Amino acid sequence: MSAPAVTGWPHLHRPGAVGSPVLLMLHGTGGDEQGVVALADALDPAAGVLAPRGRVQEQGMNRWFRRLAEGVFDVDDVVARAGELAGFLEAAREHYGLAGRPVVAVGFSNGANIGLATAALHPEALDRVVAFSGMYPFGDRDAGAERLTGTEVLLLNGRADPMAPLDSATRLARTLRRRGAQVDQRLREGGHGITAEELAAARAWLAARA
Ligand code: MLT
Repeated sequence: MSAPAVTGWPHLHRPGAVGSPVLLMLHGTGGDEQGVVALADALDPAAGVLAPRGRVQEQGMNRWFRRLAEGVFDVDDVVARAGELAGFLEAAREHYGLAGRPVVAVGFSNGANIGLATAALHPEALDRVVAFSGMYPFGDRDAGAERLTGTEVLLLNGRADPMAPLDSATRLARTLRRRGAQVDQRLREGGHGITAEELAAARAWLAARA
């Protein structure tokens, strides 16, 4: 099924201050476009917000792509959904007149993974990602071939995260760097989630690029 245009894809848009960056907010499994706004506000209350809803359903929960089991992704679906999200973003830039404003994806967990997949496969559509508890989203496959020289990624992970294992997060960082991306990887103790220190790190990372 092809993805609907902007108006047919449930999403939230907040214009934000003139000239401010636009945060493409990507909720985690079971979240939605309303719930993820609190994270945007915690990062930059003046920013524009574009928050689409994941189009996959898993037992009544919104997700961004199908998975076969926890941590085992349907990689064909990851690739297809990343293409859809890139298309949504391009259409939304036009629809909301976002030309010239930097767009930064901010995702948690499943939202981080789709943001990372989209940036890895469609750098022309998305070249900045803040990923909370994200991991390598392409299973045992390589992650595309485009050079990512203009891409900047902040990876924030817990060392003991069973849902986003450290070796997967580290593989992701290595792969993106090998393709030319600038990757800032911050590791902390603990598991899946977002800590106050990570929020502060993300705020600083965003402010340095504003
Ligand atoms: C996923 O993408 O499936 C995440 O890593 C875990 C989750 O969102 O539940």
